[in-house]
Amino acid sequence: MTKTALITGVTGQDGSYLSEFLLDKGYEVHGIIRRSSVDYRERIAHLEGTPHFHLHYADMSDSMSLVKLVGKVQPDEIYNLAAQSHVQVSFDAPEFTADVDAVGVLRILEAVRTNHLEKTCKIYQASTSELYGKVEEVPQSETTPFHPYSPYAVAKLYGYWIIKEYREAYDMFCCSGILFNHESERRGETFVTRKITLAAARIAQGKQDRLYLGNLDSLRDWGYAKDYVECMWLILQHETPEDFVIATGVQHSVREFATLAFRHAGIELRWEGEGIEEKGIVTNVQGDNVQCTKGDVVVRVSPDFYRPTDVVNLLGDPSKAKRELGWNPQSTSFEQLVELMVAHDMKKVAADDAAAEIRKVNLAEFLEKGIDK
Ligand code: NAP
Ligand code: GDD
Repeated sequence: MTKTALITGVTGQDGSYLSEFLLDKGYEVHGIIRRSSVDYRERIAHLEGTPHFHLHYADMSDSMSLVKLVGKVQPDEIYNLAAQSHVQVSFDAPEFTADVDAVGVLRILEAVRTNHLEKTCKIYQASTSELYGKVEEVPQSETTPFHPYSPYAVAKLYGYWIIKEYREAYDMFCCSGILFNHESERRGETFVTRKITLAAARIAQGKQDRLYLGNLDSLRDWGYAKDYVECMWLILQHETPEDFVIATGVQHSVREFATLAFRHAGIELRWEGEGIEEKGIVTNVQGDNVQCTKGDVVVRVSPDFYRPTDVVNLLGDPSKAKRELGWNPQSTSFEQLVELMVAHDMKKVAADDAAAEIRKVNLAEFLEKGIDK
């Protein structure tokens, strides 16, 4: 029997990989999109027009649109990935973040109940390692207490608990994947990894002078998004509805990520100074085409990218997912992840036409001035 999946957040990094994954498994895939005045469907453009992939307008802030859509699609599985997902932006737009990331989860659950699908439709909720926030233990597992540390994390905490509540109150098959940071060539350009890989490529190709970052000491457990979407599906295929930590179990700092990314772009860096005075200085370049020279300061710290409260020590313990889902947390290593992102961005920056490149450099300049959204 063909299964039908509904994905909220289908235009995002994870939504695009999950769509590919489910289409490969023979699913009928439906995705929710929002109206926008510009084209934002780049990540799923290659899927549009294929027979088993369908898009519908709806919005996480619009209950009626969700009730109608769930009734029309009659999904076997819902993957609730839609969110205002940028932590720093949640300090600027906390109410919107709460509406979409917290109440939005409730709206999905109620849309399923309103359509009397609670016994047949399974729901995956995109929970997050940000729930651990100001961490109470390292590494973090399914039993680690939560201590959310941003408006984003507080909203996601509601999502986590309302999923658990509906599982217990109405016997629904709904679960959270507590996913640690996962990145890719499709990662949004203002998350730190992609900001770094794009800047390294632009600096190597002479299209940007300098990269401005915030807290270089922040530690993350970074995995590859393509590996992580498989887990979302595995969680819904598990015999019982349960929550799972999905992580690699390996931790690196923002500084380490930047050092390795610049190395793959042909630029060796050394770090000098501390805090706001810290700089990344070129010590060596590899390849004739690298457009910077020894002694250039290519990375600086800007307080614009500091957060009012920052989560600085995330490291996941994926033992349960490994044991119960048979998932391999290290199929893509940190080194491979950085390499594939830089290789992608080196090609992208080289291929962008001149006009697009001017826009990108202007954007990069804006970013440098502190508009990190
Ligand atoms: P992303 O690239 O930012 O994608 C977010 C998606 O949500 C986009 O498709 C966006 O649509 C959609 N969306 C936002 N507001 C909406 C609304 N009001 N109505 C309908 N759709 C809306 O995020 P991601 O990295 O793929 O992450 C997917 C999910 O996992 C998110 O819930 C995120 O919080 C969570 N998560 C991510 C990570 C990670 O490291 N990537 C880790 C843990 C948890 P538009 O394209 O129209 O903006
Ligand atoms: N964005 C950004 N920009 N972050 C920076 C910068 C910068 O210039 N400089 C340092 N950082 C630090 C942040 O302070 C944070 O500690 C860390 O780099 C990672 O930031 P992001 O890449 O923006 O990701 P995030 O960890 O805040 O949130 C992502 O992962 C969560 C899972 O832990 C998002 O995908 C969330 O949606 C997700 O829930």
